[in-house]
Amino acid sequence: MQKLLINGKQVLGGSISISGAKNAAVAILPAAILAGEKVAISNMPSITDTNLLLEILKALGAKVQKEGKNIVKIVPAGVNSTSPPFEMVKKMRASYYFMGSLVARFGRAEIPLPGGCNLGPRPIDQHLKGFSALGAEINQEHGTVTVKGKKLKGAHIYLDVVSVGATINIMLAATTAEGRTIIENAAKEPEIVDTANFLNALGAKIRGAGTDVIKIDGVKELGGAEHCIIPDRIEAGTFMFAAAATRGELTICDIIPKHLDPVIAKLREIGIQVDVGEESLHVCGQDSLSPVDIKTFPYPGFPTDLQPLAMVLLSTIPGTSLIKENVFDGRFKHVDELKRMGAKIKVEGRTAVIEGVEGFTGAPVKATDLRAGAALLVAGLIAEGETRLSGVEHIRRGYENIEKKFAQAGVELKCVER
Ligand code: UD1
Repeated sequence: MQKLLINGKQVLGGSISISGAKNAAVAILPAAILAGEKVAISNMPSITDTNLLLEILKALGAKVQKEGKNIVKIVPAGVNSTSPPFEMVKKMRASYYFMGSLVARFGRAEIPLPGGCNLGPRPIDQHLKGFSALGAEINQEHGTVTVKGKKLKGAHIYLDVVSVGATINIMLAATTAEGRTIIENAAKEPEIVDTANFLNALGAKIRGAGTDVIKIDGVKELGGAEHCIIPDRIEAGTFMFAAAATRGELTICDIIPKHLDPVIAKLREIGIQVDVGEESLHVCGQDSLSPVDIKTFPYPGFPTDLQPLAMVLLSTIPGTSLIKENVFDGRFKHVDELKRMGAKIKVEGRTAVIEGVEGFTGAPVKATDLRAGAALLVAGLIAEGETRLSGVEHIRRGYENIEKKFAQAGVELKCVER
């Protein structure tokens, strides 16, 4: 069991480079099953979630070759199974994308119900509703979902909730369906656009990704392609909040600043100076900051994934701030841990009321999910004394080499095996 030892009162400085987007990579790897020939994917983040997906691809029969740290070549021709191994799949939620890609390619997928971050109840009813609209038969038994449909047919699907996962999964299944599929009330996240761009590079006909109406004209088969994954806006946002919370100054490079508009706007409202370049931005923490209200929403709203990090920054600002979590029920599991470090936060339903405090004190704390872990790490940096952060495996699911990245930003994290 790894733990991170974090000495408090550390300030971020210097410049860091952002890795490829986890949430695009975890969709694009299962999507690679649809390729007729070799695919080469660059800017692949080297994190446990993508490594696990590569292992699943291998277990299904694909040829997988890593070149350096961030290039992956996949030849899916040898895939001969429609049931990814339970022991692997249960570890991550995004393994549900194999439902869409396997049913599109083989007319069948058997996927154990997904694991991943524990953010309260996370149903997949909209994914299944989409598959059945395309003509698939769905069975759920013994914790496994079986999706069967040899000849999927394009359909008009209106999502009841804006869901990133359902939008991508339906897009995958519809890529080779007969005729046109229209997804309305689709999610608009940049990772959906990146996945659509990857599929289009393979020969798919997907239009409108990034808007709330996506049209997919089914094609008979797909070829190969090279694709470069977009930068991770959530990793970039994590470092923006870390710099602001420690009152540091950081240049964040290799990003698409537009993807961070809601974060930049909120940090500026708080009083943090953010200067935007073409592919970078500079965050400069200030001493006199104002409390704010934040409401999380699907893109282009304020991302729910950065809500725990925003909470740490708001805890350092005198006055009362509010966070309303609109995307996930029960995404406040980090609050109790932050309180153990001295935060004053009250949760009422989906709203957290945050009173700014003089400072945090280091404590043994536990990450319960990926972004909660990142938030506790940043809380440790601003605290007085040492924080021992357990549950590091959650952080490694989505952040590439955190010790090295934070070291580049002038901050020391020590990993111990106990
Ligand atoms: C994705 C991201 C996650 C991010 C989230 C919201 C990946 C791998 N993960 O998760 O980092 O926090 O988007 O931006 O990309 N819902 C249903 N029925 C469904 C599907 C979803 O009710 O069939 C609900 C969920 O419970 C949630 C909301 O819709 O309340 C949004 O979830 P969704 O966008 O699907 O999140 P994920 O794709 O799981």
